[in-house]
Amino acid sequence: MTSIHAFWLAGRQTTGETTLDVTSPWDGRLVGKAAVPTDAQVEEAVAAAHAVRDEFAATPAHVRAAALDHVSRRLVERTEEIAQLISAENGKPIKWARGEVGRAVSVFRFASEEARRFNGGESQRLDTDAGGQGRLALTRRFPKGVVLGIAPFNFPLNLCAHKIAPAIAVGTPIILKPAPATPLSGLLIGELLAETELPAGSWSVLPVANDKMPALVQDERLPVVSFTGSEQVGYAIMDSVPRKHCTLELGGNGAAVVLGDFSSEADLDWVAARVATFSNYQGGQSCISVQRVIADASVYDRLLPKIVTAVEGQVTGDPSDPKTDVGPLVSEDAAKRVESWVDEAVGAGAQLLTGGKRDGAAYAPTVLTDVPAGTTLACEEVFGPVMTVTKVDGEQAAFDAVNDSKYGLQAGVFTHDLQAAFRAHRALEVGGVVIGDAPSYRADQMPYGGVKQSGVGREGVRFAMDDYTYERVMVLTGIDL
Ligand code: SIN
Repeated sequence: MTSIHAFWLAGRQTTGETTLDVTSPWDGRLVGKAAVPTDAQVEEAVAAAHAVRDEFAATPAHVRAAALDHVSRRLVERTEEIAQLISAENGKPIKWARGEVGRAVSVFRFASEEARRFNGGESQRLDTDAGGQGRLALTRRFPKGVVLGIAPFNFPLNLCAHKIAPAIAVGTPIILKPAPATPLSGLLIGELLAETELPAGSWSVLPVANDKMPALVQDERLPVVSFTGSEQVGYAIMDSVPRKHCTLELGGNGAAVVLGDFSSEADLDWVAARVATFSNYQGGQSCISVQRVIADASVYDRLLPKIVTAVEGQVTGDPSDPKTDVGPLVSEDAAKRVESWVDEAVGAGAQLLTGGKRDGAAYAPTVLTDVPAGTTLACEEVFGPVMTVTKVDGEQAAFDAVNDSKYGLQAGVFTHDLQAAFRAHRALEVGGVVIGDAPSYRADQMPYGGVKQSGVGREGVRFAMDDYTYERVMVLTGIDL
């Protein structure tokens, strides 16, 4: 019999009246059943979070840091089991799932370190004018209030970690909602947190059904909403609660620029290997996967066949096989959507160089050129293993092509020229520029987030801690400065 994965209500292991089947996108087998909370149980979790917020904010830093450190260490101890779980519920190849666990280990470790450093305060002398004589400002940060964290399916462990670890680090309660397709990894974080001494109510992990979320988003006891997911849902949330603090990590159509100076055989081999890997990792289901390669005309003809060869070298198949590079997408519907976008582009005149085939939830790694502007593939985030390659004349045309998008999450620029790197940093309308590699690089401590339709706000442990808190100044008077 398949076991039921309980949810975590105010830190307590609980089941509801219904369950959610979690199936493998690869072979459709039942991976587990997640208990789903009733409306009354969700209300209980929110009330508990609201009630504990002052107590949690006052919890000593060492208590919160120790809890975060504990989760980090337990993730290390259980790495293989958790990687298997991620791979089973998400379809992610096991080698990428192992990498995801390693990243979550770092997220909790960074949060533990930051919790110890956070909020020493910053002082400012105010006697810079006569009116401020004898006065000193001390600024510290305090939680904005209980966080509602909404996580996506594509990194079912690590993107839950990015919501919950910074909340604990600053002492603000959080209600975490994992994605309905992949709730088990988020629930497992609950299992590890339950081994700590954090106050009851300070955290809950609840696989709330999507149709119940609008009411939760509206709840005034949850003034902060941190959402990672689609552009449509993200902006619908923000529009529905314009007075709340919303952080939105949304889509992207990551560009990799190859400038003319990056031209030796070894350079182009490196580009081809990197864009092939990062167009297809996790089936392209990463907001910073490579969707667009924009190559200078002087290297394009030599680069293109290398890219096709590298993409064809990606090993597709069973995600549990350590040799597999590319597994299925999260569902057959997702693969059908990708298929329809590629078919539309080909119908409009795009050249299909490899791939373009679907088998159930799996979609073959695909490369296209000459994709007409205005097609869905040219305008939207494909979130699948599909790359378009475009030839441009010169650096400015390349940067213009990157910016010719409604998205702005991350971009990669292959160049050896330091000045060009700085020009790219200035010119590209994105949240992050990676020099000498694909845009798909994310270190979990660095600021991560987009501009334009890619969202608002920044994650990355310390940056999410700032996002969950605000500055409150205390002015001391009569000080002998
Ligand atoms: C995302 O898809 O937004 C997350 C990418 C990552 O954490 O590597």
